[in-house]
Amino acid sequence: MSESLRELLTELEQFGQENDAAIADRPHRMLNITRDTGEFLSVLTQASDAKRVLEIGTSNGYSTLWFAQAAQKISGHVTTVELSEYKFDLAATNFERSGLSDYITLLRCDAGELLKSMDDSSFDLLFLDSNRSDYLQWWPTIKRVLREGGLLVVDNAISHADEMAAFIELVSADLDFTTCTVPVGKGEFLATRCGG
Ligand SMILES: C[S@@+](CC[C@H](N)C(=O)[O-])C[C@H]1O[C@@H](n2cnc3c(N)ncnc32)[C@H](O)[C@@H]1O
Repeated sequence: MSESLRELLTELEQFGQENDAAIADRPHRMLNITRDTGEFLSVLTQASDAKRVLEIGTSNGYSTLWFAQAAQKISGHVTTVELSEYKFDLAATNFERSGLSDYITLLRCDAGELLKSMDDSSFDLLFLDSNRSDYLQWWPTIKRVLREGGLLVVDNAISHADEMAAFIELVSADLDFTTCTVPVGKGEFLATRCGG
C-alpha cells in the first residue's frame, strides 16, 4: 500500500472516531468498519480473486478503499452504493483523493432497487453493511446476483447479534450456502455459495 493511501486511511479512521463520538444522529455518523476488518476484507478479496465486488453501504468510503486497493492488485473493481447525498459527497471526495477512482464505481441510489436491476451472478463478493432491517427482504436477490462460489460478507454479526439473528439463521439454513462467523472487528458473517 502506498504511503499516501496509508495516511488517508489513518485520517479517515480518526475522523470517523471523532465524528461518531461527537454526533448522535445516525445519518451523520460514519459507522465505519474497523481497520482489522479492512485488512480482512482485503485479504479475502485477493485470496478469492474477487474481481467483481458489490458493497452495500458506502458511508464516506472507508471500507470501499480497502476493497479498491485490493482490486488494484488483482485488476478487479468495486461497485459501491450509498443512499445519503451527504455521505455520497464525502465518499466521492475521498475516492478522488485516494487515486483509486479507476477501481471504484460509486452509485447514489437505494440498494434494494439496485439489486433488483442487477443480472444473475454479477458479483464474486458482496459486502453488506447498511440497515440490517433490510437484509431479510433482500436475501433472494442477493442470492441471485452472487455467482456460484461467490462470497457474501456481512458486518456487525457480533456487535448487533440480536438484529442479525434472523438473517444469519435464514442463510445458514440455505443448503446452497456454507457459513461461519469470524470474530474480526464487529464480527463478520461469511456465506459462500456452493455449486450444484
Ligand atoms: C454502516 S454505514 C456503512 C459504513 C461503510 N461500509 C464503512 O465501513 O466505511 C451504512 C450506510 O448504509 C447507507 N444505507 C442505508 N440504507 C441504504 C440503502 N437502502 N441503500 C443504500 N445505502 C444505504 C447509510 O446511509 C450508511 O451510510
